[in-house]
Amino acid sequence: MKSPMCVSRRDLLKLLAASSAPFLLPGCATAPRRPRPSGVVTLGCIGVGWQGTGNLDSFLGVQDCRVLAIADLDEKHLANAVNKVNNRYQNKDCKGYKDFRDLLARGDIDAVCISTPDHWHSIPAIAAAMAGKDIFCEKPLSKTLAEGIAMVQAVQKNRCIWQTGSWQRSQNFFRWAAELVQNGYVGKVTRVEVGLPSGHADFENTGNQKPDCAPPPGVDYDFWVGPSQMMPFNPCRFHKNWRWNYNTGGGQLMDWIGHHCDIAHWGLANPKYGCGPDDAVGPSEISAIAEFPPKDAVWNTATKYRIECQYPNNVQMTIAGGHGDIRGGAKWIGPNGWVAVDRGRFEASNPEWLKEIQAREKKGDLDIMLYKSPGHQQEFIDSVKSRKRTLTPVEVAHRSQSPGHLGYIASVVGRKLRWDAARQRIIGDAEATQLLSRPLRAPWHV
Ligand SMILES: NC(=O)c1ccc[n+]([C@@H]2O[C@H](COP(=O)([O-])OP(=O)(O)OC[C@H]3O[C@@H](n4cnc5c(N)ncnc54)[C@H](O)[C@@H]3O)[C@@H](O)[C@H]2O)c1
Repeated sequence: MKSPMCVSRRDLLKLLAASSAPFLLPGCATAPRRPRPSGVVTLGCIGVGWQGTGNLDSFLGVQDCRVLAIADLDEKHLANAVNKVNNRYQNKDCKGYKDFRDLLARGDIDAVCISTPDHWHSIPAIAAAMAGKDIFCEKPLSKTLAEGIAMVQAVQKNRCIWQTGSWQRSQNFFRWAAELVQNGYVGKVTRVEVGLPSGHADFENTGNQKPDCAPPPGVDYDFWVGPSQMMPFNPCRFHKNWRWNYNTGGGQLMDWIGHHCDIAHWGLANPKYGCGPDDAVGPSEISAIAEFPPKDAVWNTATKYRIECQYPNNVQMTIAGGHGDIRGGAKWIGPNGWVAVDRGRFEASNPEWLKEIQAREKKGDLDIMLYKSPGHQQEFIDSVKSRKRTLTPVEVAHRSQSPGHLGYIASVVGRKLRWDAARQRIIGDAEATQLLSRPLRAPWHV
């Protein structure tokens, strides 16, 4: 792909090893690059499989949003989505494209929603930023940490509004939990536990046992593999189940890090009780163990893992999947008690805290009031118009995923990593530094 932002892996590695300046500017420059719509925001959706269809359904219900175009390289998914939009609006205005670059070339599209598999986030996102679009993109931000850095830089440079699909921040219980911690209810946080799933889940009933075969008709498989390494088509690592092979996904760790670690960082954002802003926070030391299937297994991502991180201000964080002592969700522990939150579960050492935070929030009587989202997709469209930062800007998403990438690398090299979170560099470990990026298959590059 001919992209104006041409950074090779070698350049990225050189920058990672040698830069004396911080890679990321914390905070988000949000001044408009060009006049933005005050009325309806026009949207194109890239990738309309499982989550992409969910995102499309949500955007179709959002005020002041009009879906004009869809891009997907699976003809069936593309046709279903285009028909859905045209049925909803009772016209034939929505156009379908196999190649997302044709969608991005349209000058009448303000924003895009990217719901492609993880190995296909950075390239369309950077191209969209270069094309002046605002961007809603799924978690985890990127396939590698280095691609995340490139995405942050592109978004900052082009002053795009960015929302990540970490929708838990738009839910009341997660906000109340983070608000309790940020307002000091547990005291100065000493320990955080982030529990994620383990194993693999067979989302397509493939049984993980199918032989390689020809791709289904109507699918451009070479395009689907894109920047990853070419592998024979196998239905067990295609739609949805691509997450269980490191060529395209990052297993349960990376599938969930952008949810629960994101919430954990949100709670820690007040430096008085936690570690500091969630758009710049990161651990200084990371050690990890993991259990991996054989490298050449169809599903080769870690089935069990445990990552220990040392954060600033003496906060210790454990991120684990398959370890019974760490329950799912995020839990903050301090001298005055603890708060734990997961989907459908809210617990605190003092059961009265929940009622109290709800009442104080209503009265506006909190030192730190977190923004109450009108809905994750609605919030994005509102921000496109107002040019205000969203709940999950690109810098935040990048920091939320970073401990996952670093934990994976620590488990592969089998030693503790030292991480300079300000400069985004692994200190004194060339082998681990290599794993911050991946070789991209030509002609694709970031
Ligand atoms: N926020 C959440 O709760 C949540 C939940 C599930 C998945 N996700 C994320 O959503 C993303 C998609 O996951 P999924 O489970 O929907 O995957 P999926 O395999 O069901 O769908 C991906 C779609 O993208 C299409 N695609 C692949 N490469 C493309 C390209 N270059 N251009 C256009 N279309 C392309 C595929 O044909 C498919 O239709 C992933 O990043 C995943 O982590 C987020």
